[in-house]
Amino acid sequence: MAKVWSKRFDKTLNPFIEKFNASICFDRKLILEDIDCSIAHVKMLSKTQVISPSESSKIISGLETIKSEYLEGKFFPNPPSEDIHYSIEEKLISLIGETGKKLHTGRSRNDQVGTDIRLWLRKEIDNIEILIIDLQKSLFNLAESNIYTLIPGYTHMQRAQPLSLAHHLLAYLEMFHRDRERFKEVRSRVNTCPLGAAALAGTKIKIDRNFTAAELGFEKIYKNSIDAVSDRDFCIEFVSASALIMSHLSKISEEIILWVTDEFSFAKLTDKCATGSSLMPQKKNPDVPELIRGKTGRVYGHLQALLTMVKGVPLAYNKDFQEDKEPIFDTAETISSCIKAMTILIHEGLEFNVDNLSDSVKNDFSNATDLADYLVGKQVPFRTAYEVVGEVVKYCIERKILFKNLKIAELKKFHPAFDDDVFVDLEPFNVVKSRNSEGGTSFSQVEKEINNWKKKLLI
Ligand code: ARG
Repeated sequence: MAKVWSKRFDKTLNPFIEKFNASICFDRKLILEDIDCSIAHVKMLSKTQVISPSESSKIISGLETIKSEYLEGKFFPNPPSEDIHYSIEEKLISLIGETGKKLHTGRSRNDQVGTDIRLWLRKEIDNIEILIIDLQKSLFNLAESNIYTLIPGYTHMQRAQPLSLAHHLLAYLEMFHRDRERFKEVRSRVNTCPLGAAALAGTKIKIDRNFTAAELGFEKIYKNSIDAVSDRDFCIEFVSASALIMSHLSKISEEIILWVTDEFSFAKLTDKCATGSSLMPQKKNPDVPELIRGKTGRVYGHLQALLTMVKGVPLAYNKDFQEDKEPIFDTAETISSCIKAMTILIHEGLEFNVDNLSDSVKNDFSNATDLADYLVGKQVPFRTAYEVVGEVVKYCIERKILFKNLKIAELKKFHPAFDDDVFVDLEPFNVVKSRNSEGGTSFSQVEKEINNWKKKLLI
């Protein structure tokens, strides 16, 4: 097929280079956005009287036909069209003839592709927001039913202090909320229209940029035509927000993987989300969180690829930018499927072993801070109390016992301020209950947060 620009060239493109140059095999994902962008452009050309109303209707109905043929599976953009923009233009001309050749008046593929990607990203971000809300809701439900379930809290992967399981889960709810906010901010910048920047300098054709922007639902337009076609910062922001949500998904995945080990036994996988081993009949593998953890690397990779892609690229459009598509397409697909898989896992794939959880917090020294705080309550300076308790811990470890196994007389040898009531403070339930500082793990703080989330998530 002759190229649109072929008159300027004597020879045809080397077939390998033709393939190398093409983006049709991946940018056809933008087909609906490309058609919408063209329809808005044509309406505008008619409004500014660059083309006649009848030419406009002819082109628009041609574009609508292409859209329905695509949706009905009768048309699929394919090589030898170089990219989706040429593919639609070529198809339009073949459908409606000469009038179709007016479609590209006053625009370039540079502002066109920038518009298409932004439309596509905006739609993806809106879908992602819905998926995150679903994930938050499933975490919320699990949290709401586990306010009084205790779980060991860790720092450095060493037992630190016991927590309300709900508090632990609500920590993820917070992270995912920040992710939502981040995507919202990215969306506001994505929602800026570059159409009308043309190749880089604007156009002498009478266009109305605000009209096309409004038609396509953009909030504003790029102020500078060169800038409009010269950056992919919005793609990077999208992938960066995606990399961060993947880091949160990967964190919770890792915890689930640990929780379902025999060693932890804090939870088990239901049959809905676990897979077996081809060899070892006893196995129930946490493939879902492992895959999510694994896929995090892809998204980080895409971020690196895009950052490197824009580095040192001079103004204005350069073909390097064609490389923006696969990373953002794959990122959107990867994070959407990971968020969804995690939602299902939380909703129906995980069962906490509540008995193991409550036993585990009874059999460690994670109440050591409370032993020290008991002394603080008796006016002992914290640092002194800390040292005293360090000695008590050592004493217990040497004897293979826990605080609760000590006699009060033994404790008093370490500090006379210890009294019988100390053992009440050391009960894990009371340990958790007492951490009532704002945002702490006490049951009343957690209940307050549960109520806040209920309102925020409209549950
Ligand atoms: N396929 C190209 C891309 O994705 C479209 C823009 C091409 N512009 C150009 N001046 N060659 O970036």
